[in-house]
Amino acid sequence: MKDLIIRKYQPADYSAVLDIWLKTGLGGPQRGDNQKTIEKSIKLGGMLLVAEIKNGHVVATSWMTFDGRRLHLHHFGVLPKYQQQGIGRMLAMESIQVAKRKNIQMKLEVHRSNRHAIELYKKLGFNYLGDYLVYIMRDYSEV
Ligand SMILES: CC(C)(COP(=O)(O)OP(=O)(O)OC[C@H]1O[C@@H](n2cnc3c(N)ncnc32)[C@H](O)[C@@H]1OP(=O)(O)O)[C@@H](O)C(=O)NCCC(=O)NCCS
Repeated sequence: MKDLIIRKYQPADYSAVLDIWLKTGLGGPQRGDNQKTIEKSIKLGGMLLVAEIKNGHVVATSWMTFDGRRLHLHHFGVLPKYQQQGIGRMLAMESIQVAKRKNIQMKLEVHRSNRHAIELYKKLGFNYLGDYLVYIMRDYSEV
């Protein structure tokens, strides 16, 4: 898509970013994806890229968080209305360039049923790491 601008997140983007995450099922405040967390992750060396179309409308996000060792790519999504127009590919390529410039490995998780995303990641050079299971602890009340 021409006239696409890929740039760093600014606080004023938050409501558009949240709208993308809710419409693509990528996250939301109930999972701790709030403005504070975004800003903290950026201070820690991460980056949130957004893709903006001609009218200034933010239509896609790519959030890379840094753990001191690797960049983790997540909350990577394009508003449904703007999918299949090349935006995801351009945003993923730019995200890879960020990691390349920093010379930091990049890791991601994708659900095995998400064929479109898997195709895209493979085309751009990501390699399958193996049959790992993913665990998370969100609730400490039982621990
Ligand atoms: C995955 C996603 C980001 C792709 O974004 P997009 O802008 O639609 O992708 P693009 O138009 O740039 O297409 C890039 C590639 O993705 C794959 N792809 C995207 N949509 C596809 C479709 N409907 N059918 C088949 N392949 C598709 C293709 O491999 C395509 O490569 P091509 O350009 O050589 O055809 C988008 O579908 C999305 O936001 N999905 C919901 C959120 C999500 O699942 N994110 C990934 C979490 S890990």
